[in-house]
Amino acid sequence: MERTIRIGALISGTGTNLQAIIDSCESGKINGKIVFVGSDNPNAPGLEKGTRLGVPTFVVDYGSIIQHFKNTPENVVPPDDFDLNDLLSKQTLFSAHADTETAKAFIITRAVAEAKLIDAMKHYPFDLLVLAGYMRNLSPYFIDRVNTDSDIPRIMNIHPALLPAFPGVDGYGDTFRYGCKIGGCTVHFVDYGEDSGPIIGQKAYEILEDDTLDSIRAKGLKLEWALYPECVKLFAQGRLKTVRMSYQLKNGKKTERTIVKILPPPEA
Ligand code: GRF
Repeated sequence: MERTIRIGALISGTGTNLQAIIDSCESGKINGKIVFVGSDNPNAPGLEKGTRLGVPTFVVDYGSIIQHFKNTPENVVPPDDFDLNDLLSKQTLFSAHADTETAKAFIITRAVAEAKLIDAMKHYPFDLLVLAGYMRNLSPYFIDRVNTDSDIPRIMNIHPALLPAFPGVDGYGDTFRYGCKIGGCTVHFVDYGEDSGPIIGQKAYEILEDDTLDSIRAKGLKLEWALYPECVKLFAQGRLKTVRMSYQLKNGKKTERTIVKILPPPEA
């Protein structure tokens, strides 16, 4: 018997992926329910989808925290349990030789914002957190406090490209401008990098000669609205298992990666 999973959602914009998940819960396709909708953007139109659903919504205004740090960094106090070196050592958003001031400013401001997110979320226990058009990278501060069992990740993200190609803020645009003939979308568990976590599902579409950026975005979004609920359903069924794989390469080097195994459906 599938348990009804409690799904928290974070959005930044229109929330069309959130709506697809809401619809799939309401139709019974997903044995789940949305328990809150949070955003980094006070003006996110998708917040209205949570209000209409009658679930709590909240906003953490990242923009004002980041601006406050720019103006008077000495006045921005990180959370009590903040360990800058631990977070800097874990994150893979910035390369080792990136400007450490930039990396430090990122980690401090995000931990301040994320502590507020966690404080808001703690009133609404959840089993799965879906980033549904959430345009912020999460730091290890947040990830470690949500993924309390590191073997059972529970933060999902949807990205508008076939990862690992084209991480970042404009998956559809990058795919189009590169001249790809196939585009797509990816749902993955969130890790310490940008759009680099273990892949759960992907869907692809053809890019035809008369396609434009707008037409491929439309094709992609339609696939996103099918893909994300499918991945959430697998989570609700307990069919997603992360496995640490290690591979011996031709050049003798070893490489490792955590991947997602999709377990067979439970016996009917
Ligand atoms: C989508 O393309 C999604 O892949 C990306 O944000 C875009 C907007 O999502 N993460 P939504 O309409 O707010 O769900």
